[in-house]
Amino acid sequence: MLKVKDLNVYYGVIHAVKGISFDVPNGKIVTLIGANGAGKSSTLKAIAGLVKPKGSILFSDKEIIRHPAHEISKLGVALVPEGRRVFINLTILENLRMGGFNKKISELEPLYEKMFELFPILKERAHQKAGTLSGGEQQMLAIARALMSEPDLLMLDEPSLGLAPLIVSEVFDILRELNKQGRTILLVEQNAAQALKLADYGYVLENGAITLEGEAKGLLENDEVRKRYLGED
Ligand SMILES: Nc1ncnc2c1ncn2[C@@H]1O[C@H](COP(=O)(O)OP(=O)(O)OP(=O)(O)O)[C@@H](O)[C@H]1O
Ligand SMILES: [Mg+2]
Repeated sequence: MLKVKDLNVYYGVIHAVKGISFDVPNGKIVTLIGANGAGKSSTLKAIAGLVKPKGSILFSDKEIIRHPAHEISKLGVALVPEGRRVFINLTILENLRMGGFNKKISELEPLYEKMFELFPILKERAHQKAGTLSGGEQQMLAIARALMSEPDLLMLDEPSLGLAPLIVSEVFDILRELNKQGRTILLVEQNAAQALKLADYGYVLENGAITLEGEAKGLLENDEVRKRYLGED
């Protein structure tokens, strides 16, 4: 579904992503793990059209590199950004409406219902301002907002950030469920243990380059990964 080849992201003189290549096959969960500053967010932003990279990004065999963000979104790619970025002064429903910006009015109601089924907590709070939600609830809302565009590829940038372990499990359970329903997922995480338990395939990103890749189960057992990312001796 997604084929990234020789992707480079520069911020002025900073070379944040250094020619990485990776694939996200249809129906799979792929994770990119790495420490602070490894280039994880830059990679997702490049795919979403939020920074101007070099290289090649094929989505369903179509070259989308440097296409405008709204076009990439229309093609079926959605990003749940780092730090959630929900619109705190808008209600839950209004936030969902923003996510469905490319939908016809008549399509919105059934989509809201779908989201409320997936995230019952959002239904109870539909008319409440998003800023009044807890961190975990805001993360659910951010995911629901992204799903409103009915993306073929859902990308998430550190959805576990700042959440209690129990809530992280809830979020990851939802990702597992979404994947079962056929959604393809590209997950960026520092929480390597959780991400590798969920994913089919993983890539380790260090200083803008991929240093290791493999089946997620294999990476969980890899000594280097255990030492550096799972905090084991
Ligand atoms: N807008 C920007 N301007 C200049 N440098 C940037 C910008 N955004 C990111 N960088 C730099 O690019 C590198 C990669 O950053 P990026 O945010 O992609 O890392 P990350 O893996 O997502 O890190 P984190 O886990 O902290 O979110 C870092 O060195 C960062 O300082
Ligand atoms: Mg980041």
